[in-house]
Amino acid sequence: MLYREIKDNIYYVGSIDWDRRLFDELIPLPDGTSYNAYLIKGSKKTALIDTVDPSKTYELVDKLKDIKNIDYIIAHHAEQDHSGSIPDILKLYPKAKVVCNPKCKNMLIDLLDVPEDRFIEIEDGETLSLGDKTLEFIYAPWVHWPETMLTYLREDKILFTCDFFGSHLATSNLFAKDEDRVYESAKRYYAEIMMPFRTPIKKNIDKIKDLDISIIAPSHGPLYDNPKFILDAYKEWISDEVKNEVVLAYISMHGSTKAMVEYLIDALTQRDIEVKPFNLSVADIGELAISLVDAATIIIATPTVLGNAHPLAVYAAYLANALRPKTRYASIIGSYGWSGRTIEQIKNTIKNLKVELLEPVLVKGYPREDDFKLLDKLADNIKSEHSKIIK
Ligand code: FEO
Repeated sequence: MLYREIKDNIYYVGSIDWDRRLFDELIPLPDGTSYNAYLIKGSKKTALIDTVDPSKTYELVDKLKDIKNIDYIIAHHAEQDHSGSIPDILKLYPKAKVVCNPKCKNMLIDLLDVPEDRFIEIEDGETLSLGDKTLEFIYAPWVHWPETMLTYLREDKILFTCDFFGSHLATSNLFAKDEDRVYESAKRYYAEIMMPFRTPIKKNIDKIKDLDISIIAPSHGPLYDNPKFILDAYKEWISDEVKNEVVLAYISMHGSTKAMVEYLIDALTQRDIEVKPFNLSVADIGELAISLVDAATIIIATPTVLGNAHPLAVYAAYLANALRPKTRYASIIGSYGWSGRTIEQIKNTIKNLKVELLEPVLVKGYPREDDFKLLDKLADNIKSEHSKIIK
């Protein structure tokens, strides 16, 4: 197995998962992913930074086969895709200790049954010497679990960030070479994993702002030898600025809602508002999440099924609610046959969103002239609201 040198005595020993297409049995991974682990050989001690997903333990074990001793396993985060191989590595290196914060320690005991006597607990800002190399630990709670931390390797100016700044991208490039491609993958990663935590991310970016960083080494996707690229991208995504865009998540059964959606797309386009429609019967929910990073408005369009919104529309609303984007406005459109409670249901599903609800448009049966006028009014309303907040 390939064992790649990043700098003198610092190696990439992670695994690339080219074929994985779903994370948490939920999140689409169209470009695969990687589980990055790093080996740092100091003049006196050797540290392994994170491990890999349990499905790839055999790769990590193979890469370490010539390493006689590991003193420390730095655990940034207890989630299994980075810590899942810790029990096996501890068996291979009986003197190794897991270095982590108290929260992470408890989680590793709960999730992986790591023995209590195998830990060294560290505090925020504490350092650990490997001889000629010094590790500085930086707590970074809620990117994206409460126990997350980062490690700064002082002498080499490398910041190991675990999930923070990561991307779900399987690539043989050690560093982000094609920045346009990595940007898309990192934005997908941000949207799917990090977006609910915009506030703690702001605090954590502030916490590292004075570090002199030459390389950011995350635990998914390529490393960044141009740290400014990913730092600037994050600053844009977590800012309060929104774009003149409408995300239109829709589903139609017999064409009535579809007719409304098509009309509204034209009405918004005529008003110079960018529309991002997602037909929920075929949409990649990751693409929907990416669009929510910037859009000023989300509209859910749904028919009525057994008196309620279509389950896929409820799912899209639930997802938006869980991801808590900075979206400022929302609305609901759709049709019904004889009765229903779709508007109330969708409204109740997006309670986490700090949005102003713009007048919904609900139509009995197929939309007619008066209904299209209401859609024009909704488009006017969106244009007027966007013009107040977007320069
Ligand atoms: Fe990549 Fe939160 O684990």
